[in-house]
Amino acid sequence: MGYNSGNRAKPLAPARSPARSPAVPADPHQSPPGSASFAVDATLLPQPWPPEALRAARVAARLAGSDHPYVSLKAAVTLDGRLATAGGESRWITGETARRHGHGLRACHDGILVGIGTVLADDPQLTARLERPAPSPTRIVLDSRCRIDPAARCLTDDGVGRIVVAGSGADAARMQALRARGVHVLQGTAVRPAPAEFLPALRACGIRRLLIEGGAAVHANIIALGQPDELFLYQAGKIIGGPDARGWCDELGVRRLADAPALRLSQPRLVGEDVLLHGVFLAAF
Ligand SMILES: NC(=O)c1ccc[n+]([C@@H]2O[C@H](COP(=O)([O-])OP(=O)(O)OC[C@H]3O[C@@H](n4cnc5c(N)ncnc54)[C@H](OP(=O)(O)O)[C@@H]3O)[C@@H](O)[C@H]2O)c1
Repeated sequence: MGYNSGNRAKPLAPARSPARSPAVPADPHQSPPGSASFAVDATLLPQPWPPEALRAARVAARLAGSDHPYVSLKAAVTLDGRLATAGGESRWITGETARRHGHGLRACHDGILVGIGTVLADDPQLTARLERPAPSPTRIVLDSRCRIDPAARCLTDDGVGRIVVAGSGADAARMQALRARGVHVLQGTAVRPAPAEFLPALRACGIRRLLIEGGAAVHANIIALGQPDELFLYQAGKIIGGPDARGWCDELGVRRLADAPALRLSQPRLVGEDVLLHGVFLAAF
């Protein structure tokens, strides 16, 4: 019952509802992909890092009180907050040290999620590439219409879980082609996957710490409707400027400063030539 069961889904619980047992095996066609463990290997934590003891307690509290994963957002941006040039180029905004830090960040999560816009623009691998062996998180793509090329690099069958979250109108043959390649396809009841639906479904798949790596549309949707927990912004000493280069977060409909989502920021840290800004979303606590 639930995600892609073919049955009429029950109304979804509101975000951050009290913990309950997962309602669904998310894809009736396949068993859920293996989940990484909750505990983060301390030797994998990229340095500098926000105080892990505090973070671990926060993660545990959040997981106990919600059926969502603990959600962190990550982006690499310019000084003026741009994610890419007007031509769509985003590689690489930050330097090598910050990128390595980002791979460590991935290794501390069970799942990495991006939107189909990012896959179409960059064809990212979404793996944790570190000098020493590290667990690679499950790779997840939000893709209402299942536009993703089954040969996309993030869907490579390397033993790591791969999930495509599709909308209610996704083409059955396209979903089947992905399943034939071992991709776990979750089909929601909304035309475009909704956080209130896919976040609990991902948690039911064993994703407890989720890292969302963009793009701008996905970040905005999660901030508006997904109650994210943390933000990691790698900021490079570059300026792109202009109205056509994407900011890291699309329209949120904020008209009054009092309505702007707010974060409690940590001390900014230098990571190579870039700055890591880290914050905790106040609404989540
Ligand atoms: N610098 C960085 O750190 C970084 C990181 C990532 C991306 N980028 C850049 O960002 C750009 C892509 O960003 P983008 O905003 O165009 O694409 P995106 O956020 O990656 O994907 C947006 C698309 O995802 C689909 N989608 C499905 N469910 C959604 C949901 N709940 N919320 C939002 N979207 C959902 C929608 O298409 P459908 O309705 O068709 O499914 C939507 O158009 C590229 O230029 C890329 O290079 C930069």
